[in-house]
Amino acid sequence: MNKTSNKTQHVRAPLKWPGGKYKLLDRVYKTLTPGKRLIEPFAGSCVVSLNAPYQRFLINDKNTDVINFYKCIKNDKNEFIEYAKKYFNEKYNNKDEYYFLRDEFNSTTDIIYKSAILLYISRHGYNGLLRYNLSGQVNVPMGQYKKPYFPEKEMQKFIQLSKKSSFQNKDFELIMRKAEKGDVVYCDPPYVPLSTTANFTTYSSGGFNNHDQERLVRVAEEISAKGVNVLISNHATSYTRKLYSNAQRSEFLVRRMISCNGKNRNNVREILASYPARGATK
Ligand SMILES: C[S@@+](CC[C@H](N)C(=O)[O-])C[C@H]1O[C@@H](n2cnc3c(N)ncnc32)[C@H](O)[C@@H]1O
Repeated sequence: MNKTSNKTQHVRAPLKWPGGKYKLLDRVYKTLTPGKRLIEPFAGSCVVSLNAPYQRFLINDKNTDVINFYKCIKNDKNEFIEYAKKYFNEKYNNKDEYYFLRDEFNSTTDIIYKSAILLYISRHGYNGLLRYNLSGQVNVPMGQYKKPYFPEKEMQKFIQLSKKSSFQNKDFELIMRKAEKGDVVYCDPPYVPLSTTANFTTYSSGGFNNHDQERLVRVAEEISAKGVNVLISNHATSYTRKLYSNAQRSEFLVRRMISCNGKNRNNVREILASYPARGATK
């Protein structure tokens, strides 16, 4: 399958997500086994679930803002789409409005308003980054886009996915332990750094360290022994090769932005580590 067909086949996610799995979907789907339910403990943009052929989904992310955004689409459907669309016009495409809305995002307790601004920031902010400071406030500067794209088609597709999905906002381990025999779990945790200077793992305040990466492997091994198929993706480094030494592994090169300023593009090696279900009859 060539690259062009991947682009025409799969729908992108409503939120921009630098480093998301969009370009690698075919590779991920080829490695994922069939099953009754797909569980994504680190869903991020949800692009993997959005295009995957399962009947049911359990979608989780530790980032509360992102999960609330998905719940707004699930609950309010077209009404939320129309509401969020209000911020995608010339009136709001300037610095005064951007920084006003960013402050609103960081202070409001109205989840629907906050979720609409999340989409606005994702599409008007610098490089689509969703970055938080240590106090948990979004601090992404404005980007320079003439006419930011409103992802209507992507949100419509998400409405369809949401009908088959339940959404959670917990630590990955709690979610993985909910998996039952016959479920498939795809884990795309924050990347391990390629080097100590290329640390790009702060998706939300809290971070994700080697202790968490090792905890993830322990849980993957435990639940695969109970009949659950688990697939983990990450950067391929000497650390991850050792980390996933009990898994079936494959590696490949991917062209990727590896720094926060969006200028440093390079070929990066990725690894897929598969922990096949054991003890499963079906
Ligand atoms: C690499 S991103 C996932 C990207 C996604 N596969 C995509 O293509 O858009 C990792 C995600 O893990 C989430 N995360 C970080 N720590 C977590 C934890 N302890 N439990 C669950 N999710 C976590 C982050 O909020 C982030 O959205």
